[in-house]
Amino acid sequence: LIKRINLKLGSRSYDICIGNGILKHSGVLIKSACTSKKYFVLTVDSVFKKYGTILSRSLKRFGFIVHVFPISDGEIQKNENTLFLILKKMAQLRLQRDCCLVTLGGGVVGDIGGFAASIYMRGINFVQCPTTFLAQVDASIGGKTGVDFYGIKNLIGSFYQPKLVLIDPEVLKTLNDRQFRTGLAEVIKYGMIKDPKMFEKIEKNLQAILEKNPTALLSLISKSCQIKAEIVSGDEREEGERAWLNYGHTLGHALESYFGYRFLTHGEAVAYGMWFAALLSLKMKLCTESTFRRQVELLKKVDLLQRLPRFSIQKVYEKMLLDKKARSGKIQFVLTRKIGLVTIQKNVPRSFILSALNQLQAESSLF
Ligand SMILES: NC(=O)c1ccc[n+]([C@@H]2O[C@H](COP(=O)([O-])OP(=O)(O)OC[C@H]3O[C@@H](n4cnc5c(N)ncnc54)[C@H](O)[C@@H]3O)[C@@H](O)[C@H]2O)c1
Ligand SMILES: [Zn+2]
Repeated sequence: LIKRINLKLGSRSYDICIGNGILKHSGVLIKSACTSKKYFVLTVDSVFKKYGTILSRSLKRFGFIVHVFPISDGEIQKNENTLFLILKKMAQLRLQRDCCLVTLGGGVVGDIGGFAASIYMRGINFVQCPTTFLAQVDASIGGKTGVDFYGIKNLIGSFYQPKLVLIDPEVLKTLNDRQFRTGLAEVIKYGMIKDPKMFEKIEKNLQAILEKNPTALLSLISKSCQIKAEIVSGDEREEGERAWLNYGHTLGHALESYFGYRFLTHGEAVAYGMWFAALLSLKMKLCTESTFRRQVELLKKVDLLQRLPRFSIQKVYEKMLLDKKARSGKIQFVLTRKIGLVTIQKNVPRSFILSALNQLQAESSLF
């Protein structure tokens, strides 16, 4: 059984196919979405060992030529050197304009692979097979690609949409618990910005979700993809409502950068960011105490608020000022009004920001 969500972007529209076990059928699904006969599969070793053969076998069944290129694992590899390594390999293989790059892995492989596909011969076909929870609900959808550069995350990149996103939730079985919870942070975020029913569902079914119950996961992933697809269709280049997706990310990115992308996973950083955004909303009298509490309670139950080391308030504040969305010294925050509704605020008083940071630091040891 395959669930299809169409991401509508005119002639660049594409399907997100979701189904337990569909990696086995990737050949036929890819064939119907893209005309290429040669496939370049970008992956990392550990993922390739687990799932690579299923994918390449399924593609080869249609007589396609398949090259697999595993890169080393980790965010640290998301740089210009790896990008050029990939492009060089493709050139050596004499791949032409009509080939297709398939990413099999987490957000790192997806982002760098998408970027390579967008610039190789000015753009070739590209298919995403995300294998982490975070990539399945977020990174693989919406066409943001890129690499970290000059010490700055995602500094160079492009908007480049795939022909297909193929999501098999079964592969999450092998994902470790911490990585799984980091993906759940983004799902909670979707609930916070747009879907109070899903938020409630997570509250009620948390045990089943944390045990990776296939039905529960399928439903969360489908709902998340649907929300992201809708938002991206309406605002591909983030001039309006796509910015909602940054809920929790202004502080989240600052913390990740401050800690040098160690200590905290992306989802953990975003969880602190959501805690902080909710607190700011409370200070600005945008939301009620109970909205704030409900959010914090859920994030706590998912164990996302457990690891914040001490940080310099001033330095983290300065990092927020460097945020891509901050302009002329004003930080743009996505704040909450109630579960399922957010608002963009550019005029949050500095004193509120600093006092919320103080409170975060004071309370984090108590979480
Ligand atoms: N393009 C976007 O819109 C977007 C959105 C969010 C995040 N991102 C990017 O995504 C990246 C983070 O993605 P991530 O969290 O997936 O990290 P990741 O790609 O580094 O994957 C995390 C780890 O999980 C392992 N793994 C992957 N699939 C597995 C599986 N099925 N079983 C066991 N282990 C598996 C990987 O080998 C890796 O060690 C960041 O670079 C971030 O900037 C992009
Ligand atoms: Zn995120």
